[in-house]
Amino acid sequence: MISLVTGAGSGIGAATAQVLAARGDRVVCVDRDEAAARETATGVGGLPVTADVTDPAAVEAAVEATVRAFGRVDAVACCAGVEVNEAAQRLDPRVFDRVLAVNVTGSFLVAAAAARRMIAQGGGRVVLVGSANSVVALPGQAAYAVSKGGVLMLGRALAVDWAPYGITVNVVGPGVTDTPMSAGSLGDPERRARLLDGVPLGRPARPAEIAEVIAFLASPAASYVTGAFLPVDGGWLARG
Ligand SMILES: NC(=O)c1ccc[n+]([C@@H]2O[C@H](COP(=O)([O-])OP(=O)(O)OC[C@H]3O[C@@H](n4cnc5c(N)ncnc54)[C@H](O)[C@@H]3O)[C@@H](O)[C@H]2O)c1
Repeated sequence: MISLVTGAGSGIGAATAQVLAARGDRVVCVDRDEAAARETATGVGGLPVTADVTDPAAVEAAVEATVRAFGRVDAVACCAGVEVNEAAQRLDPRVFDRVLAVNVTGSFLVAAAAARRMIAQGGGRVVLVGSANSVVALPGQAAYAVSKGGVLMLGRALAVDWAPYGITVNVVGPGVTDTPMSAGSLGDPERRARLLDGVPLGRPARPAEIAEVIAFLASPAASYVTGAFLPVDGGWLARG
């Protein structure tokens, strides 16, 4: 399969590129960080593309580069994302907008650009990355939790829109995952203990444990799964 992964320069996106390449996909590694995209692409024998997912022209160009290089695009995994932790009353409105722009609008732009090709091809797979915070909010998450709730509903809306074209759209909901994004919280013993206290498995996920689920949803084996939200959270949401 030909797969495009955003946020491929780090964490869950980099792991997803590795898992997809290991199963034989040709992988296009998109990130706004040029060096990081190149490093992952070199490691997986893929194609690096520098693009900010909030820029419609750059996103279109990334999908075009994929089709130019490999002739088609079968799957996209939208892993690019940003997090901010700030009490709502102190949150800069521009930061609020940026978090929504990257996490929600960016996912929409990438999915839609790929879907236009997939419709012409007769189908495809779209996997969005939400969070356990798509359905629960922690303190300081007015922007992040709203954005991830938006990703959850975006996945459902796109699944309904694109089912007639054979495109499935699903949302993965990672819990606490050991990546650069969570390094601050996991590196502070008190915050780490507080976060993991709510996780029945008692440890953060490795990025590859999220990537394996993304890869399943981006495979032919998941042909009858669409519009689903799949938590990969060590049981966090099961505790209610
Ligand atoms: N780490 C966690 O605990 C956790 C938990 C739940 C959900 N998630 C979600 O998983 C996804 C991946 O997170 P991660 O932990 O791997 O983070 P990360 O910070 O390690 O990686 C994110 C990558 O996205 C890229 N990126 C950010 N903004 C971009 C933009 N505008 N355009 C293109 N690339 C951009 C960054 O350069 C980086 O390479 C995010 O959507 C995040 O919200 C992470």
